[in-house]
Parts: sequence; C-alpha cells; structure tokens
Amino acid sequence: ANSPLTFYGKVALVTGAGNGLGKAYALDFAARGASVVVNDLGGNISGTGSGSRAADKVVEEIRAKGGKAVANYDSVEFGDKLVQTALDNFGRIDIIVNNAGILRDKSFVRIKDEDWDIIQRVHLRGTFMVSRAAWPHMKKQGYGRIIMVTSAAGIYGNFGQANYSAAKLGIVGLANTLSIEGRKNNILVNTIAPIAGSRLTETVMTKDMVDALKPEFVSPIVVYLSHDSCEETGGLFEVGAGFFAKLRWQRTEGVLLREANEVLDAEKVRDNWDRITDFNKATYPESSQDSMGKIMQLSNEIDEAEKAALDAAKTKDPA
Ligand code: NAI
Repeated sequence: ANSPLTFYGKVALVTGAGNGLGKAYALDFAARGASVVVNDLGGNISGTGSGSRAADKVVEEIRAKGGKAVANYDSVEFGDKLVQTALDNFGRIDIIVNNAGILRDKSFVRIKDEDWDIIQRVHLRGTFMVSRAAWPHMKKQGYGRIIMVTSAAGIYGNFGQANYSAAKLGIVGLANTLSIEGRKNNILVNTIAPIAGSRLTETVMTKDMVDALKPEFVSPIVVYLSHDSCEETGGLFEVGAGFFAKLRWQRTEGVLLREANEVLDAEKVRDNWDRITDFNKATYPESSQDSMGKIMQLSNEIDEAEKAALDAAKTKDPA
C-alpha cells in the first residue's frame, strides 16, 4: 500500500492538456512513467481559433524533465485521430482523461444555436468520440481507465450556463452507462467535477481563489482513478483545493398512492406532497434495477390486493 502509483508501460491521452487542469494531469502522469499524448486544439476559451503552441509547450516541459510525450492538435470532435496518435507513437491506449472544454456563457434566451451546438460538440460529443475510438483497444487488452469531466454547473445548474450544464450532465449520463458496459472488460469509468483556477475561471475568481485552487490539487484523484490498482467505477467526485468527496443519488422513502379499487388523481398527489418529498427515510438507489425494482414490487402488491378483493367479492356474490 506504500508503493508509489506508477504508470510504466501505460499510455495516457489527456484532452485539452495544453492549459489548466489538463496540463497538470499530463505532467503528473508523465512524472509517474506514463507515455502521454498531450492533445490540445489551441483555441481560445470560447472555442475559436487553433494552434500548436499550447500542446507543444507541455510536451517540451515533459521531455525536459525526462518524460515521454507527443502532441496532438486535433479537436476532440475527431476522437479517432487522437487515439491514432497514441497508437502510432506508443502502440497502445490505456487511459483517457476527457478534459478539453470551452465556455459560451449566456442567459438562456440569448443562447444562439451556435453557442448551444459548439458546447455540445466539444464537451459531450467530443467525450463520446474519443472514448468510442479507444474502447475497442481497451476491450481487447482487458484494461482501460476513462476519466470524465463534469462540473458543479452540470450537477446543480448555474445561472448563464444552460448549454454547458446540459453537456456536462450529459457526460455523467454517458459515464453511468459506460461504467456498466465496461466493467466485464476491466474498463473503469469515473467522473470528476473539479474546481480550479484556470483561464476558464480566472475572470470570475479573485487572485486569492486562483492561488488556493491549483490544478495540482485536483490531479491526485485523476491519477489514482487511472491506476490499475484502483477498482472504483461509475463514481462521481467533487474535487478542488485539496478536498475530495463522492456524490450519489438519494431518493425519499416515497409513497405508493395507488390503492386497491381507489381513484388515483392529482388531489391525492397534492395531499401527500409532504410524504413524497420527505427525505427522512431516504434510500440510495445505485442502479436502474434498484430504482425500478421497488416500484414494481409495490405495484404488484397492490395488484394482488386488488385481485384478492375481487375474488372475495366473487365468492360472496357468485353472480
Ligand atoms: P482551460 O481553458 O485552462 O483548459 C482547457 C483546454 O482545452 C484548453 O487548453 C483548450 O485549448 C482545450 N480545448 C478546448 N476545446 C478543445 C477541443 N475541441 N479539442 C481539444 N482541446 C480543446 O480550462 P480548465 O479550467 O483547465 O478546464 C478543464 C476542464 O475542466 C473543462 O472540461 C472544464 O469544463 C472543466 N471544469 C473546470 C472547472 C474549473 O474550475 N476550472 C470547473 C468545472 C469544470
């Protein structure tokens, strides 16, 4: 348990690794022996422009420290090209951090089609394209680690970020299903919601905040979740400033309002609103089976009660 977490022989692809959080992940992986594909399109924070400088600088820094890295300048929308760079240079792909991101913050009605589409394309579709390109290789080798990147704005919503919130929570949905599909092939998929000072956040943060929220304080969980000794999958974590926590769904005990041979209507919902929304005896469903199973079980009980009542009535009055 005291051995350092190393990545010799492993190949990690970090998208959007030219700046901010992605750069911190790339440097951490490389320092631990991984061969790293440093992907970055090199545009600005709203997703316009492109260039090779951002990725090149990080590759140079890794190499100067004796690490292994190559640059890739394609947009994550062309996921297969990113994965091909890993295969061409290092012969395999083991780890993906779907980190690339941009912002088009606008209050809801001011979001133009283009502001909506580019956010979905880079965040949600980009994450899909990169992950899908790597999947068959991970499946074949019986090993893969995928880190998804969401945001508090996605989990909780945030004024002016409807496009970004939708894409970021979409990524959690993708991770939920990929963690189920990947498990039997040792492809583990986890999601982080980071907070860090970066060019994306420096305009809304004070200097003190930026200093306290170093990307290096997020990287340790990305590295751990990517290691072959870590068995976590399907998890969602909030991370920043050195703080680490896991999230999960919570459901109220709930109440089945349908009763044998009684009308179920809106008034019944209104009259039971306190019970429907009471978290005192909450449960924590972990799968759709957990979630739907209880509903079906309660519903069957009522159907049976209804049938029993009907049978009883028939015996009393055989006509
Ligand atoms: P950043 O702007 O410093 O880094 C993002 C990098 O992604 C940039 O270098 C950019 O060139 C690159 N990129 C953008 N579009 C790309 C594309 N289509 N293909 C390839 N590369 C592309 O931003 P930061 O803060 O490091 O963000 C990293 C991730 O963390 C993003 O997904 C962001 O949404 C997420 N995040 C960050 C938070 C924070 O507090 N910084 C909060 C919540 C989420």
